[in-house]
Amino acid sequence: MPKIVEIKGFTFQYAGSSQPALTDVNLSIDEGEIVVIAGPSGCGKSTLLRSVNGLIPHMYSGTYIGEVYVNNLKVSEHKISDIAKQVGYVFQNPENQIFMFSVERDVAFGLENLGLPRDEIKQRVDWAIDLLGIKEIAHRAPHEISDGQKQRVAIAGVLAMKPKLLILDEPTSLLDPLSALDLISTVKHLHDTLKLTVIVVEHRLDLLVPIADRLVVMENGRILYNGRPRDVLGDEGLLTIGVGVPSIVRLTHLLRGDCSFKHLPLTPSEFVEQINEA
Ligand SMILES: Nc1ncnc2c1ncn2[C@@H]1O[C@H](COP(=O)(O)OP(=O)(O)OP(=O)(O)O)[C@@H](O)[C@H]1O
Ligand SMILES: [Mg+2]
Repeated sequence: MPKIVEIKGFTFQYAGSSQPALTDVNLSIDEGEIVVIAGPSGCGKSTLLRSVNGLIPHMYSGTYIGEVYVNNLKVSEHKISDIAKQVGYVFQNPENQIFMFSVERDVAFGLENLGLPRDEIKQRVDWAIDLLGIKEIAHRAPHEISDGQKQRVAIAGVLAMKPKLLILDEPTSLLDPLSALDLISTVKHLHDTLKLTVIVVEHRLDLLVPIADRLVVMENGRILYNGRPRDVLGDEGLLTIGVGVPSIVRLTHLLRGDCSFKHLPLTPSEFVEQINEA
């Protein structure tokens, strides 16, 4: 599989900060993967995403050691606008990228900045609005829609740019459990239909783990675990790090002395299936 992200020996320290936010990070991501990044607050997750979308080093200055490539472009040597054509980035808070008078204008914003012809903008906006299921709110103002709908508008806006890689920073943090589940199903659907690569920073691993190809766990600016979710979650050391390990995985670890599991169940239904078999 071709690599879409390649991070080699990467250390970054924000200007004015007394210690690096990331230390010797190595990570490569194949095209088409869904990668979940987890770790306690302040461990460097958003910094890692900013290094992939080019905000670091182009908007945040600091000490930059090592290399970051996106689709074979060296991020530090290409303009942020070139990186933005490869990477769709949805901020931790969608309010940061929704500010026009209507949903439709918001989705069109990035395309207008690219200077695309009117017809193409219209066609791409309609396509993205359709894809995210937000047609009925296309003419509403941002203050009239829910947080879940705002997330969808932000995602539509970046997908209209036709990126290869979609990056979401804690997309469910403002959402109730049902809207969160709904959003994650949409992300999976977008991945499947558009053949997107997806990187998601997320605390609610119970929602993400069932769709993830890979789980990366960070602590204190370093990558501690990087592997298939079932393998990573199988390590009991993870329980002490402050990562939102799914309750069903915690329960399985507790029961391990008494029951033998064929493999680590990641969802309640997998758990029930194995108990029934036993
Ligand atoms: N603009 C900045 N200038 C200086 N230091 C920063 C800046 N942004 C983040 N940091 C520091 O870098 C470290 C990593 O922060 P980062 O925001 O990447 O963590 P995070 O894992 O995304 O946390 P959270 O889960 O709270 O969003 C923290 O120590 C933080 O204080
Ligand atoms: Mg963050």
